Amino acid sequence: MLNIALSKGRIFDETLPLFEAAGVVPTEHPDKSRKLILPANLPDVQFLVVRASDVPTYVQHGGAHVGVVGKDVLMEHGGEGLLEPIDLNIACCKLMVAGYPDTNLDSTQRLRVATKYSNCARAHFAAQARQVEIIKLYGSMELAPLVKLCDLIVDVVDTGATLKANGLVPLEHIADISSRLVVNRVAMKTHSHQIGALIDQLNAAVKMSG
Ligand code: ATP
Ligand code: PRP
Repeated sequence: MLNIALSKGRIFDETLPLFEAAGVVPTEHPDKSRKLILPANLPDVQFLVVRASDVPTYVQHGGAHVGVVGKDVLMEHGGEGLLEPIDLNIACCKLMVAGYPDTNLDSTQRLRVATKYSNCARAHFAAQARQVEIIKLYGSMELAPLVKLCDLIVDVVDTGATLKANGLVPLEHIADISSRLVVNRVAMKTHSHQIGALIDQLNAAVKMSG
């Protein structure tokens, strides 16, 4: 049995057409079912419904053999025990530092940075030898500067509409983000035939969609 970890929402919606083209689909939609293991059209495959930020952990520890995850989440996790064979080129956005337009980024004062990407943020500012205090949040990062919880945020930006609606602007680019197929290193050997075929089919689907 091959376990494929997917998260609901954006990743599921954007991944489904690629899996359809690859010939592997769940037989139930996760939004219409409370089941966390969804059967597939193929008898030796099933889909696991997990939170986006948990996908690397499931795949790293072998709970899932493969998964689909944003590069932002992968960078934050660190990628230990994972192979990343395909850029699926979906859920594209940018990981950015953002804040008020008049923020003094050269301030010698220790800036406070609110984010759910605490490892990425720490690494970004450390690489520039800038001292920051990281404030860990789990969502609605754009709210934090408005109530003076922080000076800056680190979050993903797509259209920029959420920043704009809250009077904020993107200030520094950290990384271009898209979703990746990740594979457990051991599973790549133990399930080489099944995973190899899935990679080939998904690669073809990504090429066709591009
Ligand atoms: P969790 O439930 O673990 O907190 P989440 O709510 O961030 O995860 P989604 O909003 O579904 O999960 O985002 C999944 C992935 O989609 C992100 O990891 C990122 O790679 C990408 N993404 C997030 N926001 C956007 C956006 N506005 N436009 C395009 N891609 C995005
Ligand atoms: C994400 C992200 C930003 C927003 C950026 O939130 O956290 O808030 O998208 O997109 P934009 O630049 O097009 O406005 P999402 O919509 O996924 O909601 P979430 O807080 O539930 O993750």
